[in-house]
Amino acid sequence: MKTKIFDKLPSTNDYAALVDEDEDFAIVANEQTGGKGTKGRTFSSKRGGLYLTLVKYDPCLAKDAFSIMATSCLAVARTLGEFGVDAKIKWANDVYVGEKKICGILIKNSFQGERVKKSIIGIGVNLNNELPGELRDIATTAKENLGKEVDRDNFLAALLKNLYEHYSIDEYRAKSMAIGRRIKVFEGETTYDAEAVGVADNGNLILSNGKILSYGEVSVKF
Ligand code: BTN
Repeated sequence: MKTKIFDKLPSTNDYAALVDEDEDFAIVANEQTGGKGTKGRTFSSKRGGLYLTLVKYDPCLAKDAFSIMATSCLAVARTLGEFGVDAKIKWANDVYVGEKKICGILIKNSFQGERVKKSIIGIGVNLNNELPGELRDIATTAKENLGKEVDRDNFLAALLKNLYEHYSIDEYRAKSMAIGRRIKVFEGETTYDAEAVGVADNGNLILSNGKILSYGEVSVKF
């Protein structure tokens, strides 16, 4: 796969959005100065982490768009596992080790008819990077968990391979840390507590009160 590695970029997602190739490609930065997170947040992207954007062309039907997120979360969790870090998926777009976030994923899809025409998949994994003080209680790194550094290039190669594996929604459920837990739901201006009981086939989160949360429209916290 065509992979471009930059020493520093504002955001690999923003860069990738301006590029078009004939086939899937990857953009990596050693450091981002304006890393983007979900809901307009920033994503701390100090040197030592992996900041990757994978662009997939025509990955699936529009109705199956959640499978892109599920595949990406599973690929990160599996790759971390291969490097000795036991990670779980926090619906819908984060990967955690214990109660701390190790990876965030931000996906932007464009559609043509019934298909996803282009998917810009941004993945930030805390590998050997320092975390800023305000994140130390809520985020972690592979290095912190292993007591040693992870080879970023080997990790990238394994992750790119895993990003093309086929995963079922059952595998997503099996690796999901939301199910059976109390969560805090953020829905527009409203916040409420609930219990997550399952993930539907289309990726929606099912709550014990009968509510179904649509991926992309709400966020949850433990
Ligand atoms: C989140 O946790 O809210 C999502 C974070 C996504 C971060 C990645 S790092 C690579 C890519 N480039 C960006 O600017 N953001 C994504």
